[in-house]
Formats: sequence, structure tokens, C-alpha cells
Amino acid sequence: MNRAQPAVDSPDAAPKPFDVASVRRDFPILAQTLKSGRPIVYLDSAASAQKPQCVLDKQNECLTKYYANAYRGVYEFGARVDDELEESRATIARFIGAKSPEEVIFTSGATMSINLVAQAWGRKSLEPGDEVLLTLMEHHANIVPWQLICRERLATVRFIPLTSDGQLNLDRLDEVLTDRTRLVSLTAMSNVLGTINPIAEITERAKRRGALVMVDAAQSVPHGRVNVQDPAIDFLAFSGHKVYGPTGIGALYGRRALLDSMDPFLGGGHMIDEVFLDHSTWAEIPAKFEAGTIPIVEAIGLGEAIRYVAALGTDAIRDHEHQLVSAAFDRLSAIPGLQILGPAPDKRGGIVAFTVQGVHPHDMASLLDERGVAVRAGHHCTMPLHDWLNEPATTRASFGCYSTLDEVDALADAIRFARKTFRLAP
Ligand SMILES: Cc1ncc(COP(=O)(O)O)c(C=O)c1O
Repeated sequence: MNRAQPAVDSPDAAPKPFDVASVRRDFPILAQTLKSGRPIVYLDSAASAQKPQCVLDKQNECLTKYYANAYRGVYEFGARVDDELEESRATIARFIGAKSPEEVIFTSGATMSINLVAQAWGRKSLEPGDEVLLTLMEHHANIVPWQLICRERLATVRFIPLTSDGQLNLDRLDEVLTDRTRLVSLTAMSNVLGTINPIAEITERAKRRGALVMVDAAQSVPHGRVNVQDPAIDFLAFSGHKVYGPTGIGALYGRRALLDSMDPFLGGGHMIDEVFLDHSTWAEIPAKFEAGTIPIVEAIGLGEAIRYVAALGTDAIRDHEHQLVSAAFDRLSAIPGLQILGPAPDKRGGIVAFTVQGVHPHDMASLLDERGVAVRAGHHCTMPLHDWLNEPATTRASFGCYSTLDEVDALADAIRFARKTFRLAP
């Protein structure tokens, strides 16, 4: 990689001053110009983040220097692939504070990680009448898997309500966190409102009721410090492609005792100890949950992405994005008819979703694109949240470590251009 490599013993093993111009040079795609000749203003990192050169190089290194299938070859390339994969797993484990690498399962992403827990833990542990507690701001990836397993197990899905500014309403937590709650699964950061949720308080209250806690860290891992020991949570899910890593790969953290007690989710090669005609026995974790050939190159690339983020410093990334969100609030709230959804900047990460009276969110996104500003419009896989907001769709700008204050200005200018196109009063 092209920065000094910390040992990733902690998220910020080697914090240094944050220099966004230098960070941008790590991302070759950001130097591209669009067909219009404009520079790309990429404000869609919450959907998928761009990749630094070191991740591209790492994947290329694997493909050109030692590629082979994993966990099968006794020859030199196979052994090297295994070493690189285990180094990647260990890097992720240290980054999130897992006690051992075996507690980190490679999955295809946050969606698969949550489905794995819903199916493998839920099928064995949920009894009729049990409850799984989610929040109203969850991504569909943290709603639908629970609906599926709860329907099968005759359990119920419940939701923590929100305050009017889009935070979890903890005053009403005891109405929904009951003695029947077996698991609380919630996002650490909303992919629409940007809200950073109080995982520590919820974990403490859930544990007092005897419930497990699963954190959907798909949005929070790229934007700040994550430690599965503080507070001590049970499961954590995230996706590689949102944390500057490859697509098709992600991770599930699970506390060892829980993973050991769960049956496999998928069956196939590599996850077995022995196979007979009438039954099989399982490998130890993590192999028990990694049936078949995992995306080898991507899993190795993910380790490099995590090293890159750790070298930048998770606190430095968080502070940089906080500056951008504050600037976005200043610039955007001066625009007539524009409403930002969710809480104040100090309660959120690098996401700003908004509506503009008189311009449909999809028209807004298309007009912003004319100015080279890439944002997303729609329900962002949060239909229940949008029902609660009473908005069918919103426009969302989301920042990454490479986003700049100039890009916030470009966003504000482009929104003014969109309003003008619709002949709205200045
Ligand atoms: C909060 C949250 N959870 C889960 C997901 C699902 O991630 P993936 O599609 O990478 O599995 C997303 C994706 O946008 C998300 O924002």
C-alpha cells in the first residue's frame, strides 16, 4: 500500500494529520472527468465507496503472483493464498476488537451476514412468542431476514420508535424491549438520516433483559471506530465495498460461544469435518460458516482496505466527515424549500438526505448529474423509514474520506441550478 502500514492493533495505530488532497491521490477514479468534461463529484459513498490504489494493487498482486483456490492446495501458491486470507481475517479481527480471528466469518456482505445469523441462530433459538427488536430506521437487509425467520418460528418482529428529529426514542424503549426479546438488531448509523445510534446504552439495556445484540455496521465501519468489546456485542455485520474494499465480500463477527453453538447456514465443501451418506459433522469456526469457495481475491483485498482505513485513522475520517456534514448543513439549509432529514450534525455521520419542495428527488438527482454531482434518489432500501417520514423518496448525498468542502459547495450550487430549472423562486 502507498501509506505507512500500521499494525492495525487498534483502529488508529498510526494517526496522522488528515490531508484530503493526498487521500484523493490514492483513488485513481477521482481523477477521471465525465463525458461533459466536468470532474466527478462523487457523493454516493454510502451506496458504495471508491477503491484506493493499494486495494487494486493487492487484488492484482494475488491474481498475478500467487492465485490458487483457498484451503485446498498443498503447493506454494495455495499456501500463500491461505496465508494472505488468514492475514486479512486477522487484520479485520484486530480492527473490530474481536478476541480471535476465528470469530470473523467471510461473507458476501452485510446482507449475507445478517441472513446467516437470522437463519443459523434464529432457527435454533427462536421459540413461538419470542421477539426480535429492530428500529424504524433499518435498511431492508436488517428487516426482511428477521421477518422470514420470525414467520417460520412464530416469533414477532418489533421496532424501536424514533424521535421527531430521527433519533431512537429511548424513552419508549421499555415499551418494546421485553422479557420476550431474544435479540436486538440495529444499525450503528442510519443510511438515510445519518443518525449515529447509542449502541452502548441499548446494549446495556438489552443485556439486562437477557437479549443478544447484533449491530449492522455497514454504514458505521467506514466512518468511525468500531469495537465489538466496548460495548460487548454479540454479532456485527459489514460489507467490504462500503469500506473502500472490493464488492462481493464482507464479514460477520460473532462471539465464539454463539458461533460454536449455531448450526451451519449453508452446506458444501470446506465447512464439514466428515460426511457420511446419512449425515455430516461440521468443521470448527470460521470454516463451519464458509461453505464452498469464498471470493478469495476480494477477501484478500478487504484486508488491504482495512489497513488503508486504519492508516488514515478512523477518528480522523470521522472528524473530516463531520466537517463536511456541518458545512453541508450550513450551505443547504440556506436554500429555499430544502429540508434536511434527520438529526443535527453532531448526532450523525457523513450522510445528508434531503427533499426540495417542488422538485421530485429523482429529478433532483438527474439535474445534479448534469452538474457532475453523483447522488442517489429513492427510498434507499428503507421503505418503513420513508413511510414514517411521509416521503416516498429522498435525495441522499453521502461523503467518504476523499470528499472535500469544494464538493459540498458544488452540491449546493447544483441544487440551486435544479431549482432554477424548475423555475422556483430564488
Ligand atoms: C445500513 C445498511 N445495512 C445493510 C446494507 C446492505 O449492504 P450490502 O448490500 O452490501 O449487503 C446497507 C447497504 O446500503 C446499509 O446501508
